[in-house]
Amino acid sequence: MILKLAVLFLLLRRSSVALQEDDLGFTYNGFQGVNMSLDGLAQITNNGLLELVNATKQQKGHAFYPHMLHFMNSSTGSVYSFSTTFVFAMFSKLTAVGGPGMAFIIAPSRDFTDALPGSYLGLFNATNRGKSSNHVIAVELDCIKNMEFDDINGNHVGIDINDLKSIESTPASYFSDQENRQVNLTLFGGHAMQVWVEYSGSQRQLNVTLAPFDAPKPTIPLLSLNIDLSPIAVDPMFVGFSSASHAFDVNHYVLGWSFKMNGKAKELTLSQLPKLPRLGPKRKSRIYSIGIPVIGVTLLLVLVFIIHLIMKREKKFAEVVEDWELDYRPHRFKYKDLYIATKGFKDAELLGTGGFGKVYRGVLPTSKTEVAVKRVSYNSRQGEREFVAEIVSIGKLRNRNIVPLLGYCRRKGELLLVYDFMPNGSLDKFLFDQTTTEMKLNWNQRFRIIRSVAAALLYLHEEWEKVVVHRDVKSSNVLLDKELNGKLGDFGLARLYDHGTDPQTTHMVGTLGYLAPELFKTGKANPSVDVFAFGAFLLEVACGRKPIEPQASEECAVLVDWVISYWAKGRILLTVDPKLGMDYDVQEMELVLKLGLLCSHSIPTVRPHMRQVVRYLEGEVPLSELTLVFLSAMNNLCLVS
Ligand SMILES: *[C@@H]1O[C@H](CO)[C@@H](O)[C@H](O)[C@H]1NC(C)=O
Ligand SMILES: *[C@@H]1O[C@H](CO)[C@@H](O)[C@H](O)[C@H]1NC(C)=O
Ligand SMILES: *[C@@H]1O[C@H](CO)[C@@H](O)[C@H](O)[C@H]1NC(C)=O
Repeated sequence: MILKLAVLFLLLRRSSVALQEDDLGFTYNGFQGVNMSLDGLAQITNNGLLELVNATKQQKGHAFYPHMLHFMNSSTGSVYSFSTTFVFAMFSKLTAVGGPGMAFIIAPSRDFTDALPGSYLGLFNATNRGKSSNHVIAVELDCIKNMEFDDINGNHVGIDINDLKSIESTPASYFSDQENRQVNLTLFGGHAMQVWVEYSGSQRQLNVTLAPFDAPKPTIPLLSLNIDLSPIAVDPMFVGFSSASHAFDVNHYVLGWSFKMNGKAKELTLSQLPKLPRLGPKRKSRIYSIGIPVIGVTLLLVLVFIIHLIMKREKKFAEVVEDWELDYRPHRFKYKDLYIATKGFKDAELLGTGGFGKVYRGVLPTSKTEVAVKRVSYNSRQGEREFVAEIVSIGKLRNRNIVPLLGYCRRKGELLLVYDFMPNGSLDKFLFDQTTTEMKLNWNQRFRIIRSVAAALLYLHEEWEKVVVHRDVKSSNVLLDKELNGKLGDFGLARLYDHGTDPQTTHMVGTLGYLAPELFKTGKANPSVDVFAFGAFLLEVACGRKPIEPQASEECAVLVDWVISYWAKGRILLTVDPKLGMDYDVQEMELVLKLGLLCSHSIPTVRPHMRQVVRYLEGEVPLSELTLVFLSAMNNLCLVS
């Protein structure tokens, strides 16, 4: 009992049936549970759509309001005014066709068994079409241009009386009040549309209006035909729909229907109408033709972007590693670590710019140790292997007078050398700082630095497993640690630039003022070249002057010559750095100046070896005047003054 009541309630509610007195009108917002007279393919779907035809080919379908209606005033014999509106949709899995079409009909009988499908829309057959005995009034929504019926196109609305050849027809469109113009519509586009058919008995006028589903009813009808239906109609008659299926998969639906005799049909409640099935070609194609490509392209773009980022990152941190380097693995740094350590080689971290590249301060990300990273750009492929081998082996040598090389990293056209960080920077800054007259290094400190550098060179030349020529001894390559101890740095780099250089075009490696004269002839580097530079370095430290002062007068421009000239006059101490004042050990000072001259002798064989130099500096052997006699063989020009 309860179940029955519930079903009844459900039926009443969902069908929205509004039966009125004398069957004068009805409104169906969907056909769920509605009693319709159906034939052929026509059926009511589970969700309340009135499906006139489905994909079954070349069939027809009819749906009628089950009761006959009195269209005629029996006393006057004229047809009453009536009004009807319905929402329909026609579509196919193939977007191009929607036909043949469907029609709203008023007919004396609901038996259309002899009518033909296809272009005949299930209304007539070849024999009975056009006969006045049919008493059929129809509004066709025709999707096929059929020459037989003089159709204007394959997408039109027509008023048919007893025949499929329309009395009046027009391309499917509607008057948009908003845009104030006629807008074309496609009947079989799969979109729901609304039709209004209104007959005025007094004016004898039949109006047909079409509009998109959710548009308001246009003020101007699509078709307006002056016609008296009285001679055509009989009494009573059926109202309903007729439709024909296509050779292709086509579905025709009515979503809602309202009818009123002698009055205006109640407007449909569009929001209550059943939903169209999703299999519509347009809906499908929208997902396939827009959705999937858009998603695909988006994914592709995202992928490309990510790959781009990865590649950019890879490139940014790319290194060059070759098989032969495997032995040096422990000495190798990751470029990424060095990049992070130096904050991306920021200018703020720049310690200095030398002849071979820029030096940056950095803090290694893992160990948090302070380092100096030297970025050397070079193009020489030749000898690279030997060079790296040498660099790494030097890294292995641990001498307290040498700036420790911690490791290296190789990139395309670039070599990065990682050294211990020397907080006090290079010696030249202390010697030649013009900004202050204040003495920054006293003689004791200077003498200690000199002895450290001498010990370092001795180590490189004689005490290590092979002879290493520094090639670029100068005050700017002597670095000072926290306690102002001097350490020699930057060895071997000059060699890098030497590799692969054509002897004929030899460009000098090293620094002008420290270059031994024989280098200009042979271009060959041997330890005595370092001794020459060391001599210049000694004078530099003692005199507080650069080996070459281009601005100075001719006889004073070259430091060695200048010191010789004073030595020849027996007044060598006048060359001492004025910043020191009288605050130095005279013996040590004389030793350093004279040793500087001896080391810088233009004849290589006259120069002492580093072991001998160290002996002089340590006071183990006195620098005899006899030795100094050799000096007189030097540049005589300077002895004139
Ligand atoms: C079409 O409708 C008829 C009648 O309702 C039904 O028997 C048939 O299975 C339907 N065909 C398709 C393809 O849906
Ligand atoms: C055409 O339809 C009429 C009326 O329904 C019927 O009498 C006639 O036999 C049909 N003709 C053909 C050829 O089917
Ligand atoms: C509307 O349709 C008609 C007939 O099919 C055509 O001649 C006209 O160009 C169309 N107008 C627009 C704006 O597409």
